[in-house]
Amino acid sequence: MSNNLLIVAYIVASALFILSLGGLSDQETARKGNVYGIIGMLIAFIATALSLDVSKYGILASVVLPGAVIGAIVASRVAMTSMPELVAILHSFVGIAAVLVGIVNYLQQSQSLTGAELTIHQIEIFVGVFIGAVTFTGSVIAFGKLRGIISSKPLLLPARHLLNLGMIGASVLLGAQFLATESINNGLQPLLMMFIIASVLGVHLVMAIGGADMPVVISMLNSYSGWAAAAAGFMLSNDLLIITGALVGSSGAILSYIMCKAMNRSFISVILGGFGADTSAATVGDEERPVGEVRKTTIEDTAELLDNAKSVVIVPGYGMAVAQAQHAVSNLAKQLRDRGVQIRFGIHPVAGRMPGHMNVLLAEANVPYDIVLEMDEINEDFPKTDVVLVIGANDTVNPSALENPNSPIAGMPVLEVWKAGTVVVMKRSMASGYAGVENPLFYKDNTRMLFGDAKKNVEEIVIKLTQLSQESVDQGLPKKVVLSTQTS
Ligand code: TAP
Repeated sequence: MSNNLLIVAYIVASALFILSLGGLSDQETARKGNVYGIIGMLIAFIATALSLDVSKYGILASVVLPGAVIGAIVASRVAMTSMPELVAILHSFVGIAAVLVGIVNYLQQSQSLTGAELTIHQIEIFVGVFIGAVTFTGSVIAFGKLRGIISSKPLLLPARHLLNLGMIGASVLLGAQFLATESINNGLQPLLMMFIIASVLGVHLVMAIGGADMPVVISMLNSYSGWAAAAAGFMLSNDLLIITGALVGSSGAILSYIMCKAMNRSFISVILGGFGADTSAATVGDEERPVGEVRKTTIEDTAELLDNAKSVVIVPGYGMAVAQAQHAVSNLAKQLRDRGVQIRFGIHPVAGRMPGHMNVLLAEANVPYDIVLEMDEINEDFPKTDVVLVIGANDTVNPSALENPNSPIAGMPVLEVWKAGTVVVMKRSMASGYAGVENPLFYKDNTRMLFGDAKKNVEEIVIKLTQLSQESVDQGLPKKVVLSTQTS
């Protein structure tokens, strides 16, 4: 393929990636966005494979084919609940790829580069390896934390900010040494030493971040992986990689900013790690124990409560994803809507384990978008709501975030469900959520705990509600009046 054709293919692929991002910003256009992304990636891959730079098709096939097969198998088998881990480990691949490209590029450095050109190329290599190493080890730690192999508690070493600064300072010094070297053999040593230091920095930055702040870390690592790809693009003089990397890097940074705002966290503090540890003396597990009594409820009582309610809000969380209860929840919502109950969903920005986790599940179960509201849109309505069903959510409905300044999640906005008439919390036990924080909601006077698997319980509530309807019909009672004008 001629160079001109390659440039055209890259421009088309870049445009498709931008359209893809545009599409992914809205639930209704997300599928189309994905299709644009897939076509863009196919064009990018075929054009690169057919470009004049590529001649060893045997090697290309021997890495691409097994990679494609393994990727397809892993992606098709992964459970929705494990998706964030998969994304984290894929980010680590981008990081290590940038490191390898950087080192190989340095070893194969063209002798024709001299003066400013050579310096710029060396800076590209050094910065690329640095970002790649931080992304690689940071993402591996994020994977471990999400999978539960590593504790979600923050690791708060004494003088950790100083430690981070020291590692960044040492990398800068090694960078100066790297640029000053004339032979490849002399430059390789500072490059590899910086790789080790940046790898430790990646581990330390992510280890210092606590459970509730993990969403920001994931989007930050997403951003880093974009910049690592862009750096690889500079090293390989590949415009498409630069554009794609910059798109991923900047969209990840914007997402991190949005997440920080939603969680009332300072962007800089989260990046530096260990947010909140200095401002509050609390660590996970140290917070005051909630007082009050836990009131258990049953399927029958919950169904009757819903039968008599005029307005219901469902607040799903990670447990709904674990239980795969979204279809049962969608059925329940439909059944309540058909009875004229005003039913809406309240979604916390960090509910679940990845951005938009709940929205994806509800869309999969065909819950209409117009009844799925964000935290800011629904919070004011809780005092006017008869019943709130909390389905597998915990940290995102924890009042201690607002009421207890010593709580590790203090300051994080939450769904204020306790302001409703009655709150039914569906979970299996009294266990805490991802942040490992006790939840006083479970002890409030208007809270009822419905223990058990969310899917099973929701399905049984639907059956009970159907029975109640049938009993009304059998007794000749009038059918419930339809109060809302919404359509399913
Ligand atoms: P969590 O606070 O993690 O609580 C989920 C609850 O679901 C658990 O307490 C668990 O209690 C319950 N559960 C688990 N399996 C269940 C099942 N089969 N049936 C019923 N309940 C079940 O969830 P959340 O409110 O969605 O909050 C999300 C948390 O994850 C936040 O701390 C957030 O910062 C963090 N996080 C979010 C992200 C993103 S980007 N969204 C990424 C990483 C971390 P039992 O064990 O008692 O059942």
